[in-house]
Amino acid sequence: MAKSVEKAGIGDVPEMHRLINIFADRGEMLARSLSEIYENVRDYVVVREGGRVVACAALHVNWSDLAEIRSVAVAEDKQGQGVGEKMIKACLKDADKLGIPTVFCLTYKPGFFEKLGFSKVDKMELPQKIWNECYRCSKFPNCDEVALICRLDSLAKK
Ligand SMILES: CC(C)(COP(=O)(O)OP(=O)(O)OC[C@H]1O[C@@H](n2cnc3c(N)ncnc32)[C@H](O)[C@@H]1OP(=O)(O)O)[C@@H](O)C(=O)NCCC(=O)NCCS
Repeated sequence: MAKSVEKAGIGDVPEMHRLINIFADRGEMLARSLSEIYENVRDYVVVREGGRVVACAALHVNWSDLAEIRSVAVAEDKQGQGVGEKMIKACLKDADKLGIPTVFCLTYKPGFFEKLGFSKVDKMELPQKIWNECYRCSKFPNCDEVALICRLDSLAKK
């Protein structure tokens, strides 16, 4: 399958917003507003097919040594074809290029991230500074997502 992962452009945002919120409405991931996506558009990668955005994911830098993968969504008819895996690998490569050694995620799909080299951790092990945006989440303080981290040096040795 030749679908490639590319940096998102401004014109992709309405479709990314729609895609993310289809799954957010089902409680599978956190909702994102249009303004949040525009403000962070440089974090996002997309996969396009036939002029349509079929997948997106974001790498958000938190600190000198930590970044988060968030808003990973693959259109239902494109799931199970390696698209999610390609996007996560692109995000990890991006983190590595930036010199960031550790990437984490908060998710309801831990099995997907475990396949890609992430390991579960206690949420309380994550530094407090990542909770800034959690205050705005409707679930706060009862977060039921699972935290996982990926250390890029250990991934390189595999
Ligand atoms: C979770 C999601 C991103 C996976 O994307 P995808 O393109 O279907 O996944 P891939 O085809 O790249 O799968 C890569 C590997 O992970 C596995 N995998 C995929 N989803 C999985 C899940 N929910 N649980 C466990 N393993 C999973 C696949 O079987 C595959 O393993 P294999 O190589 O051994 O066959 C996609 O199903 C999705 O968008 N779901 C709705 C939104 C969501 O839940 N986002 C997640 C989190 S923030």
